Amino acid sequence: MFRYYRTLLVFISLTFFIQVLYSIVKLRIRKQQDYYGTLRNTLDKSLQQLTTSVLRPNNAAAILNVRTANHIKVSSQHVAAKLRETLPRNITVNTTRNNVKKPDTFINASFIETLNFSVPDVAVYFNLSECKISSTNNVVKNSVKYQVNVNTTLSSYTEIERKHAADIHFGGHWYPSDCQAKQRLALIICYRQREQHLKMFLNHMHLFLKQQKLDYTIIVVNQHGNESFNRGALFNVGFIEAIKLYPFTCFIFHDVDLLPEDLRNIYKCDSRPKHMSVAVDKFNYKLLYPALFGGVTAFHTDDFIQANGYPNVYWGWGNEDDDMYFRVIKNLKKNITRYPIEITRYKMIRTHGHKSGKRNPHRDTILHSKYNYSLDGLNTIQYNLHQIRLYHLFVLVNVSLIEESYEQIRNRLNIVKKSKKNR
Ligand code: BGC
Repeated sequence: MFRYYRTLLVFISLTFFIQVLYSIVKLRIRKQQDYYGTLRNTLDKSLQQLTTSVLRPNNAAAILNVRTANHIKVSSQHVAAKLRETLPRNITVNTTRNNVKKPDTFINASFIETLNFSVPDVAVYFNLSECKISSTNNVVKNSVKYQVNVNTTLSSYTEIERKHAADIHFGGHWYPSDCQAKQRLALIICYRQREQHLKMFLNHMHLFLKQQKLDYTIIVVNQHGNESFNRGALFNVGFIEAIKLYPFTCFIFHDVDLLPEDLRNIYKCDSRPKHMSVAVDKFNYKLLYPALFGGVTAFHTDDFIQANGYPNVYWGWGNEDDDMYFRVIKNLKKNITRYPIEITRYKMIRTHGHKSGKRNPHRDTILHSKYNYSLDGLNTIQYNLHQIRLYHLFVLVNVSLIEESYEQIRNRLNIVKKSKKNR
């Protein structure tokens, strides 16, 4: 009998003990969940704040590689620093190891570590009268007066900044102080390792654009990495990143080696997309073919969106500009415009041994495939944003692109392989 009670007692105590143990563990788990839940909320809030204020939202995804409750990995040191400022100390923020940071160029060019883009004081600016810029109608008369000297001597950043930067806001943003500019222009430059050309460009363009009394910003989109150069995709990135900085109304997409020679070639957007570099010295100041839309082009923000931007599928040299021409005609249903050939003159910088990129062997097949433009463009661009930096004379958007093979492009755009018979 006694043995029976003893076993029962042991059994009851054991059950009770297990129950107590279970409750303790449950409580701890709940506490831990609460703790991580709170952390997760803080994290989400900080990220949200960061993505809307600093990060420029659509790249947040690319930046957040590893994310656990108390450990985040991001691909940018700048973002990591910002996150460390906002998150509790017990969350570690690391950067990924094969992390691309600064482009190894632009040494000695001054910059500031902030994304506070300077804008005109609304109360003052909107009370000014509209800026008057010289009309383009007077083509022949007084033409010499409008010709600008294209200086291709190479200066240091210090010299260029000394010459032009005094009244320029960081990020290469300038606007007239005595009148109100009608449009807000983003001048987007596609770029990779052409620093001498960039210096000449900056030296020339700041003076040129100031004389036209424009509210303008020079934005250099640098393609980082070893992927083939993609001019169209870089322009799309420039567009997307620019509109997060400032409500630009006009976009001019520009090769870095083209310098305008006539002040009547006004850097503004018209009711139709405009081809600006009509007469280039390299081509004896003649338009190469009627549908040429390369070099320098101008789009109202809405027109660019409606055309679905540039194509992203031309890796290497050629045809992305011809594709853009067809997007304007077919997607936007507008014709392009050009100013008279006498004033749309450009000098092409051909110094410092720059060679144009490898020709893309698939460029004609893609161009003539009649693929649907809504399958590729602004709506499908993929990139990793590494850095946005406000240099004194320009904004740098440092980015790497994700290269697709021709097979992937063909499948994605439903480009049908031609049978040998049909070729
Ligand atoms: C190419 C264009 C280029 C033009 C002028 C054409 O054959 O398709 O991309 O802009 O030549 O060089």
